[in-house]
Amino acid sequence: MNESAKELLNLLDIASEAALAGGAVLESYLGKLDENSNDIQEKGRSGDLVTVADKASEAAILDVLSRQVPDHAILAEEGGTLGNSHSSYLWAIDPLDGTTNFAHQYPCFAVSVGLLIDGIPQIGVIYDPWHKELFRGAKGLEATRNRQPIRVSQTETLDRSLLVTGFAYDRRDTADNNYAEFCRFTHLTQGVRRSGAASMDLAYVACGRIDGYWERGLSPWDIAAGIVILETAGGKVTAYDGGPIDLKSGRILASNSKLHDAMSQVLLETSPLSAW
Ligand code: IPD
Ligand code: CA
Ligand code: CA
Repeated sequence: MNESAKELLNLLDIASEAALAGGAVLESYLGKLDENSNDIQEKGRSGDLVTVADKASEAAILDVLSRQVPDHAILAEEGGTLGNSHSSYLWAIDPLDGTTNFAHQYPCFAVSVGLLIDGIPQIGVIYDPWHKELFRGAKGLEATRNRQPIRVSQTETLDRSLLVTGFAYDRRDTADNNYAEFCRFTHLTQGVRRSGAASMDLAYVACGRIDGYWERGLSPWDIAAGIVILETAGGKVTAYDGGPIDLKSGRILASNSKLHDAMSQVLLETSPLSAW
């Protein structure tokens, strides 16, 4: 194994340690949030929740990173930009992806820890503490679920596919709300799921449970880890038009590869907006 693969493996283990630490905190809060106290609050936009569990999970993750990689930069959902802003290593952290699900004790949420090196996602770990599933990926190495290799599905046509998507918190305020795309894909496929946790959506495409995923209104911490896991599992991740993904655009098209062009075509034909 060459030096750069060794470095990636070491960083992958650090990401795993951080994700597992966050996951343990989430488990300790599950079912214990008090709706009548400040345990659950809105972050400004209606429906965009933050809980004491999000914050405690983030603190546990940051504790691991500050010990293991003190000179790296961090973009954490709750704390914002932290650490060494000159570093070429940027950790993108979602301490609780699927906060609404968590607050309702709906078992679909995860910790997402991604690492971008020179702006490119290269390490990804997603940990689902409810189902005890640890998804890992590192650029150039294989993707795994609980240490077993995973691959994307082989589904070749939309009419045999199961897709997933999500709806951003601004959906009430914009015509670009993904409703038209959802209807169109529902018509063309075996079904479209809406899990409420973007990281899990990407992990599920990576292990073949779902064939494709698209969404708008996302942040880098939602998808950085999942992009690496999906790409190393044989999947494809792009902008809606099939061009390179821009993490700042908030839009992602992700698939098992085989469905990619068909999904891109539907998105380009269906969206009420043309400004992609
Ligand atoms: C949200 C989830 C959801 C997606 C939203 C995200 P959060 O993250 O990933 O699936 O539709 O756009 O913001 O707020 O639960 O961390
Ligand atoms: Ca999220
Ligand atoms: Ca979150």
